Amino acid sequence: MTIKDPIPWGRTLSEYAAMFSLGENEQSLSVLDIGAGPASFTAEWRHNGGHAIACDPLYASSANEIEHRTSIAKEAMRNFMEDDAQRFIWSTFKSPDDVVKARVAAAKTFLDDYRKEANAKFYLPAGLPTLPFRDGDFDLALCSHFLFLYSDAFDADFHVASLMEMARVAGEVRVFPLLAMTGEPSPHTDEVVDRLRQAGLRPDIEPVKYEFQIGGNQMLRMQTRDHPDHQPKISF
Ligand SMILES: C[S@@+](CC[C@H](N)C(=O)[O-])C[C@H]1O[C@@H](n2cnc3c(N)ncnc32)[C@H](O)[C@@H]1O
Repeated sequence: MTIKDPIPWGRTLSEYAAMFSLGENEQSLSVLDIGAGPASFTAEWRHNGGHAIACDPLYASSANEIEHRTSIAKEAMRNFMEDDAQRFIWSTFKSPDDVVKARVAAAKTFLDDYRKEANAKFYLPAGLPTLPFRDGDFDLALCSHFLFLYSDAFDADFHVASLMEMARVAGEVRVFPLLAMTGEPSPHTDEVVDRLRQAGLRPDIEPVKYEFQIGGNQMLRMQTRDHPDHQPKISF
């Protein structure tokens, strides 16, 4: 099975922490979650006292619309995991049902937060390759399960432009996973890494402790500010 359109399917802070090797000493970082969908990362990070903003073209939609789309995605994803169960490591999650429960819980946390009018400033309807932020607004820009995953729909040019844009707005960029929807490594990774290096950036590919899809245990990391004490400019 292949899924061409990015689907609203969201993960939690604990999964983000594992996918992106987020350390305890990083809780004070200001974070931009790009293509955040119904993930609960931003809500949880803020509830823990951190600074985070999420952006996704999906946020042009109402909470009810997102809830509806997420519930449709639920059945598609359950069927996908049942049909292709051998592509996954069933240790943290014991079954497709377990995953669905975790994703529904994440979406609920997200939707409860998203529905509060006062929180509109934390959820911006925007997407790659153009972000509505100033240079260096954030310490860290994350992108989970959008770049590289939809390699059939988005070419290498899109990935290079998107990663340069992420590097523009944040002192560090992390992207996970580097697998395409087929479960194979994205066909764009080598070219994208080469082109970013030619542009003067320093992308690295690092192993992470998270592995749910077999082989999905690497992130792309780029430090884009030389000074670790770089001050993000956005005010929260
Ligand atoms: C599979 S979801 C991942 C959600 C979340 N990051 C996670 O890992 O739990 C992919 C998200 O990418 C979003 N998306 C689609 N086009 C995008 C774009 N051009 N820029 C950023 N995100 C986009 C979709 O709306 C969808 O919410």
